Amino acid sequence: MESRVLLDGHVVELEVESAPGIRPQRFSEYIGQAALKRKLEVFVAAARQRGEPLDHTLLHGPPGLGKTTMAQILAHELGVHIHITSGPAIEHKGILAGHLTALGERDVLFIDEIHRLTPTVEESLYSAMEDGRIDLPVGEGSRARTMPFSLAPFTLVGATTRTALLSAPLRERFQILEGIDFYADAELAQIVQRTAGLLSMPASAEGAKEIGRRSRGTPRIANRLTRRVRDFAQVRGRARIEAEDAEYALEQLGIDGAGLDAIDRRILEAILDQFEGGPVGIDALAATLSEPRDTLEDVYEPFLLQRGFLVRTPRGRQVTRKALRHLGRTVAASPAKGGGNSQGELDL
Ligand code: ADE
Repeated sequence: MESRVLLDGHVVELEVESAPGIRPQRFSEYIGQAALKRKLEVFVAAARQRGEPLDHTLLHGPPGLGKTTMAQILAHELGVHIHITSGPAIEHKGILAGHLTALGERDVLFIDEIHRLTPTVEESLYSAMEDGRIDLPVGEGSRARTMPFSLAPFTLVGATTRTALLSAPLRERFQILEGIDFYADAELAQIVQRTAGLLSMPASAEGAKEIGRRSRGTPRIANRLTRRVRDFAQVRGRARIEAEDAEYALEQLGIDGAGLDAIDRRILEAILDQFEGGPVGIDALAATLSEPRDTLEDVYEPFLLQRGFLVRTPRGRQVTRKALRHLGRTVAASPAKGGGNSQGELDL
């Protein structure tokens, strides 16, 4: 299998973060998401036995959990090429037609951020997905018309942070819909050990555990932190990442014991200090922090929710006791909640 991919129509090397050798290429190299992997392995094997493309597949989940990696593994395991693009890059129908007509038999077309397609592009994707056909424009001026064009059988793999962002007609055209969840700390430790080994700076079990524990349940972050910890360890003359190297480097990087970074803490502190612990609406919070709403919702919030630092209520986001404890605040520090202990709202 080739280590190249087609990105927006151009043959490129794999992106830097996933230099060849680091990004897993096979199900067998992929750590975590056991249930998802088991299902996809069956779907791939069945499609291969039938000599058909894999059914159109939608992967959803927070950024950095491996949607692109999984799409590449699917293509690799299917023995086909993958063509990679994204919703925002497909500005008009012509660009989509370019991608679709370049596909070989049973190839994978991967569209990241598929929820960001424009309605007209989305509509021409429907006939491609359903009937394997697109309408290509021919002629000009008064003689302009369209001609149906038959595509090679292909698999669309779409990725989105939340399925709710997708229009119902698009969602319904996928036959496989699967979520990717945050990883367990032990799985992240395994990913760190694998990556550290590949970067020629092995990590001890304790060193890997420390990095994994602080990686927000996210392999992309685990791999990024592994690279940074490696820098510190290397300059300190170490041959191996020990827990103490990880602790030292992560402290320098402003990543605390729970894996929260400066922005996570700023979010929790803003809710506490400016909105009396919440509930606060996402737009008010985004304006206060000068961060785009989408970034808060897609990048920061899911992890804070999953780890119980934040809850969503019908009236907005609210910090939890766990967040107060983590920030070293006493419950009484949240003025609106009075003594706190007797307040159901904070008793989360
Ligand atoms: N690198 C990024 N994600 C990974 C995973 N799930 N398994 C192994 N290596 C990875």
